[in-house]
Order: sequence, then C-alpha cells, then structure tokens
Amino acid sequence: MRKKIALIGGGQIGQILAMLAAQKELGDIVILDVPEYANVAKGKALDLMEMAPHGNYDANIIGTSDYKDIEGADVVIVTAGKPREAGMTREDLLNVNIKIITAVANGVKHYAPKAFCIIVTNPLDAMVYVFHKITGFPKNQVVGMAGTLDTARWRAFISMELGVSVADISGTVLGGHGPDMVPLPRLTTVGGVPLTELATQEQIDRLINRTREAGTEIVKLFGKGSAFFSPAWSAIVIAESFLKDKRRILPCAALCEGEYGVNGLFIGVPCLISDKGMEKIYEIKLTEEEKAQFARTIASVSKTVAECKI
Ligand code: APR
Repeated sequence: MRKKIALIGGGQIGQILAMLAAQKELGDIVILDVPEYANVAKGKALDLMEMAPHGNYDANIIGTSDYKDIEGADVVIVTAGKPREAGMTREDLLNVNIKIITAVANGVKHYAPKAFCIIVTNPLDAMVYVFHKITGFPKNQVVGMAGTLDTARWRAFISMELGVSVADISGTVLGGHGPDMVPLPRLTTVGGVPLTELATQEQIDRLINRTREAGTEIVKLFGKGSAFFSPAWSAIVIAESFLKDKRRILPCAALCEGEYGVNGLFIGVPCLISDKGMEKIYEIKLTEEEKAQFARTIASVSKTVAECKI
C-alpha cells in the first residue's frame, strides 16, 4: 500500500510540497486547507493529477478541508498559518499562528496519531513547541524543519561566494530559526577542504550574516509573503529520510531534554531521521565562542516560547 502524506496548509509552500512529494512518488497526498480555501486546494490537487502523465508519477492527490481525509497519514507537514510581510519578524506572527497551530494539532491528534509530523509554520521553534504540547506526541514524532533550510542557505551562499559546486559543501547550522542562528564555519567543508582554509574571515562573516538574514532578504524582495521553494524542499528531505529510512543526519528543531544544556525546548540540532522519526540527537562539542552564540539563540527561543499562552 502507498504511504500517505498529509499537507496541512495548501498555500505557497503547501503546493510546492505537493508537487515534490508527487514527483518523488513518496505516496498519496492530501492537501488540507480552511473551508474557504477548500476549492482552491481541490483545484491544486486536480491540477497535479493532470500533471502526472508528463510528470511520470502515480499518486492519488486530493484537496479537502475535512480532517477525516488525513486519517492514517504516515507523514504530516504543517504549513498552515500566515507568512511574513516586509518589515515583520517571524515573532510578529506568533499570536495568529498559535491559534492556527492549536486547531491543526487537535485535528492531527485525532485523525493521524501515528504520523511523523514536520512543522514549517513560523515562528518555527515556538510553533513546533505548541504543536508538541497539544498533541502530546512522543518527541521522536515531531520536528521543526528550519535547520535543514538554514543549512541549505548556508551551503548555497558558500557555493555562490566561492564559485564551487554546492554538492561538495557539507556543514550545519544550529539553533533557532532567527537572526541569531549558529552557522558553524569550523565544521564546514568543501570537498573535504575546511571552509576556514578556503575563505577569509571577512568572507565567512559575510556568509554568516547573509544566512541569518536569508529569509528576510526574500521577504523584502517579495514585499508580501515569504520563501517557498527552499522551505518546501527542506521539509521534503526530512519526510523522505523518514519514509525511506534513509537515516540522514539533518539539523531539525527537536525537543532537547538535557542535550546542549537545553531542557524542554525545541531547537535546531543535528538529528538522525529514520523510520522511527527523530531517532537521535547528536551533541557536537562546541568551542567557547560557539557556546556563547548557542546561549543567545536559546535565550531568544525561550523568550518566544514563554509568550505562548496555551
Ligand atoms: N488549517 C489549515 N490551513 C490553514 C489554516 C488552518 N487552520 N489557517 C490558514 N491555513 C492556510 C491558508 O489558507 C493558506 O492557504 O495556510 C496556507 C498558508 O499558505 P501561505 O499564506 O501561502 O503561506 P506560505 O508561504 O505557504 O507559508 C506558510 O510557513 O514558512 C512559514 O512563515 C511561513 O508561517 C508561514 C507558513
């Protein structure tokens, strides 16, 4: 039997998620949106069914606003919520998106209690915390997508700066999905050559800043709405590692219970994503400077989470 992927939110990111999941033949796809948007979700699903002959995939794709249709989903990816507009921080979305995530969490808890859940809605680290609190799902079953995206951006900017293939760049970005995230140049390599030997400190500082502000750079260009291609691909990479038990090590917002000195918060850390979901968190030995940066990102996430009234 095919796997089932439920996409909660069928907007900009949701529609790209649906297309990627179809093209990769990850399973049957349900796009769920609010009742006012149900017909649009149905239309997008039908459009993707009609793309299948050229896209060369077999998948049943439906649009709906009824949670019953996500029953038994193996994976749930949540993008329901408002995106940023120019001048807004991710935190400005908190109050409106808490309400949305609460409703979504209740629907998923009821109809897809075994699903591996990937949260994309911002402010990410707080929304995944809220989703986990409301569902009460085990911690291996819930992750936030952001670190995978932040690392993709870090790799993309290094490739653009150095004029080298993005395929050879390996590295990670830890911490919250905000301007104090922690890219780790010390642990980044290009074809095995340390980044610190390929780029000057001035270049590295520029790359770090651009990565931290990457989402905002796109919001400014759009004026309204935020990035959608790269967030969608990042969530699909996590979903695929789960569905195919690829056992990739990906930075995700995972519930830390002692790791990195963090207790009870979701924060971006390297995770093993297997058919068990978030199977394991890896603890990297950080330098004093990296620890100080990590402490700053934890403080920001704690502050946002403290404002979540649930
Ligand atoms: N249930 C289901 N869907 C909902 C709900 C809800 N309670 N509330 C809103 N939605 C839907 C909207 O109708 C819309 O179709 O979520 C979709 C969001 O799509 P967009 O507005 O296009 O936003 P998108 O760019 O996809 O970003 C979604 O991800 O990266 C984050 O900051 C971004 O929080 C935002 C989220």
